[in-house]
Amino acid sequence: MRKPIIAGNWKMNNTIREGLELINDLKARSLDEDVEAVVCVPFTFLSEARKVLRDTGIKLAAQNMYHEESGAFTGEVSPIMLKELEVDYVILGHSERRQIFGETDEMVNAKVKSALRHGIKPIICVGETLEERENNKEVEIVTTQVEKSLKEIDIRYIEDLVIAYEPIWAIGTGKTASSEDANSMLSSIREKITELYGKESSEIIRLQYGGSVKPETIKELMEKENVDGALVGGASLKANDFTQLVNF
Ligand code: 13P
Repeated sequence: MRKPIIAGNWKMNNTIREGLELINDLKARSLDEDVEAVVCVPFTFLSEARKVLRDTGIKLAAQNMYHEESGAFTGEVSPIMLKELEVDYVILGHSERRQIFGETDEMVNAKVKSALRHGIKPIICVGETLEERENNKEVEIVTTQVEKSLKEIDIRYIEDLVIAYEPIWAIGTGKTASSEDANSMLSSIREKITELYGKESSEIIRLQYGGSVKPETIKELMEKENVDGALVGGASLKANDFTQLVNF
């Protein structure tokens, strides 16, 4: 059985004071222990979040990292630095990083390898643009992103991997993929995993949907066979909404 994973991607939001309020609010609520709840906070807040979350079941994630361990890479954060803060997960290849900061599949692959080597579980993001979907290219685009991101990743890491399908046209737009469309794409991703790692592995890896996920839509989404969780932006910034998402 795959444990559901609901991750809140705060993106570039919240000062330390605001973050503390939100984290303490979440900590005070009762979250379903059969669901893995993850908060993906800005770098500036990781250290404080670690202290507050230490004795809770809520997992901590960073939103990016560089693949090198140290050196002359001004402005970057390394896996060793994240490990020092006992970060559990790291989002890699989010579409905002791909589109705004020019990250390629090759860069994402290097980061995935590095994260795994340092014991940090990657949440690998993939997704198509509206234009690609309108040209019926979405399955090809997304499964190619999956294949390239996982190039030379050993099968022993399969249970540490999470792949988040986030169609770019559904992010922050209020437009969400239907639960059928989300399930269908996640099924194609699972088939790709079968092709790369075999059937057993494809049943172990956890797959999320992301893109305007809200408390009103989570139940139907999570009922779908291939949906193991959600990667949530906007709605994760409100303790009430995030709690409802985790307790779907
Ligand atoms: P929204 O939930 O705000 O659409 O953001 C989705 C997302 O990009 C999560 O990584």
